Amino acid sequence: MNKDLKEQIVDLVTPDLEKVEQALEENLSPHLDLVKQIASHLLFSGGKRLRPLLFIHAARMCGYKGTNEVLFSIIFEFLHAATLLHDDVVDGADMRRGRPAAHTCWPAPQVVLTGDFLLARALDIAAGTKEPRVISVIAKITRDMSQGEIDQLAQKGRKDLTEDQYLDIIERKTAVLIQGACQCAAILAKVSRQKENALKSFGFHLGMAFQMADDLLDYTATAEQLGKNPGADMREGKLTLPLIYSLARACPKDRKWMENLMANPDVDPSQFKKLQEKLVALNAIAYTRAIARTHVDNAKKSLEIYDSSLSKSVLTLIADYAVYRKI
Ligand code: IPE
Ligand code: IPE
Ligand code: MG
Ligand code: MG
Repeated sequence: MNKDLKEQIVDLVTPDLEKVEQALEENLSPHLDLVKQIASHLLFSGGKRLRPLLFIHAARMCGYKGTNEVLFSIIFEFLHAATLLHDDVVDGADMRRGRPAAHTCWPAPQVVLTGDFLLARALDIAAGTKEPRVISVIAKITRDMSQGEIDQLAQKGRKDLTEDQYLDIIERKTAVLIQGACQCAAILAKVSRQKENALKSFGFHLGMAFQMADDLLDYTATAEQLGKNPGADMREGKLTLPLIYSLARACPKDRKWMENLMANPDVDPSQFKKLQEKLVALNAIAYTRAIARTHVDNAKKSLEIYDSSLSKSVLTLIADYAVYRKI
């Protein structure tokens, strides 16, 4: 099922993906070779390009008449790439997209500043939309993402993080960017506020489901599938929904055992396997998946206001893929 869904999407978006790749290369425009090397290391290492694809198909679904849909779509990939460079420094993560994380190849300060450069490129292109409401959405994205990441960092190691606090963090660090890509497409296509809000809601729910799926994969996928090490969240001391749910329901002995694993970088594979089994037994995997599916259902419902079209089908398939995906 998963493969079919992915294949269906890829069949529909291959020409768009090619244009996005080309636009990313043409618009990176660094002055320094070092910046080009660091940015290219991450940018051209096989990301899914989810955010540009959402922008392009949201714009088409809205009947966007301009000629810049591909150029404007990469605003959201440059923003995403900037935050990934920063995120891997913040998380001390050593793998990204199946490659060594940039900060393991170059000094972290250079990587952080390259992230700032990518953010600036996103803003340059956004200025070209000549649409103040787009700039304002992008300002909100960067404000929320930085605060989501800071909040997550500040809460790291806390064993009493609540489900609501988790939801607030993932909304800021992930959903707001995906929501913004969809909303900006609606703004530039000049649809009604009702239709714009529908796309905003679609992006929000999709973003929430997408991050929950990412947090699930950290407990359910292999390193090969992920392109980064599974169990990284727990080793970093980062509480996500599967573990929050389990800690609240485990017997005191199991809770103590789980708490001791948290923030321990030396957890061995057999202990991690035992933890995976406990999360399944406590229903935490099924619970997280069910919440993510509810968000996907809400995302799809948000699009009911739009007539059927090829791009609406692409958006709907991407919503389903957000939860079934293996990478
Ligand atoms: C990874 O995003 C970070 C999250 C918000 C979960 P993606 O899963 O879209 O990463 P790439 O771009 O495909 O590598
Ligand atoms: C997602 O956060 C990255 C951003 C939103 C910046 P995570 O730290 O959970 O994502 P991965 O697991 O590193 O991709
Ligand atoms: Mg991370
Ligand atoms: Mg992080």
